[in-house]
Amino acid sequence: MAQKNTSPLPAGTRVPVHVGVIMDGNGRWAKKRGLPRKIGHREGAQTFRAITRHAKNLGVKYFTVYAFSTENWKRPADEVEAIMDLFEKYLDEVRDFIEENIRICFIGDRSMLRERLQEKMRSVEEDSLNFTAMTLLIAINYGGRDEITHSVRQIAQKVKSGELSAEDITDDTINSFLYTSQLDGDIAPDVDLIIRPSGEQRLSNFLIWQSAYAEYYFTNILWPDFKPEDLEKAIIAYSDRNRRFGGV
Ligand code: IPE
Ligand code: IPE
Ligand code: MG
Repeated sequence: MAQKNTSPLPAGTRVPVHVGVIMDGNGRWAKKRGLPRKIGHREGAQTFRAITRHAKNLGVKYFTVYAFSTENWKRPADEVEAIMDLFEKYLDEVRDFIEENIRICFIGDRSMLRERLQEKMRSVEEDSLNFTAMTLLIAINYGGRDEITHSVRQIAQKVKSGELSAEDITDDTINSFLYTSQLDGDIAPDVDLIIRPSGEQRLSNFLIWQSAYAEYYFTNILWPDFKPEDLEKAIIAYSDRNRRFGGV
């Protein structure tokens, strides 16, 4: 018997392989309600869970969420602390995703994070290594420039040791040392669609190499208010775009 199409997307919608989300607007969501910013982050974390599940159900294969940037350390210490506490709490709960066959990986410089958090990150990565429905990349202490610098540094070491000659360095070489290519046996393709809620229209150092030909979707909705239907809208908008990649 033919399987019934249960996707809420219109027939023929082209679902992007790799979707990135800049989870922005938690602070303003809380401010509007006269609540502390950390409550906004707590609500944002709930949205993250619901939207990640929905991305998998819609058929997205790589889903990258920007959770904490290399620039976010500039925030007041108590806010940074509250965000790190939330990460720890949610890394325990994120194990629910394992039941959904979602692989979880982290991108960013984790050496600056608390040891306990790093330990939880390693353990979630290990436990979900063989799951195949979708790969979730969580960007923590992530910056696109930092990622490229990190890649170039590793390449320079290889040139220094004679493993690689300078003439052989290509786009692919640089790409291969990015965090998104170092997923223990997997390589995330370039990001197809970047969604930014909250009304800001900028990348803020997110996937700057991988987004060379990404499509963008901006909305004024604040991240804690972002609903599964908003993800569907973004994907439908993406599906209507004409991607030329420099051709005609
Ligand atoms: C995004 O929400 C979460 C992080 C950057 C950690 P914000 O905290 O930036 O929310 P706004 O932009 O102040 O509303
Ligand atoms: C980008 O949001 C980083 C994350 C969502 C984690 P920001 O709120 O830090 O970005 P700016 O400061 O508005 O550019
Ligand atoms: Mg913000």
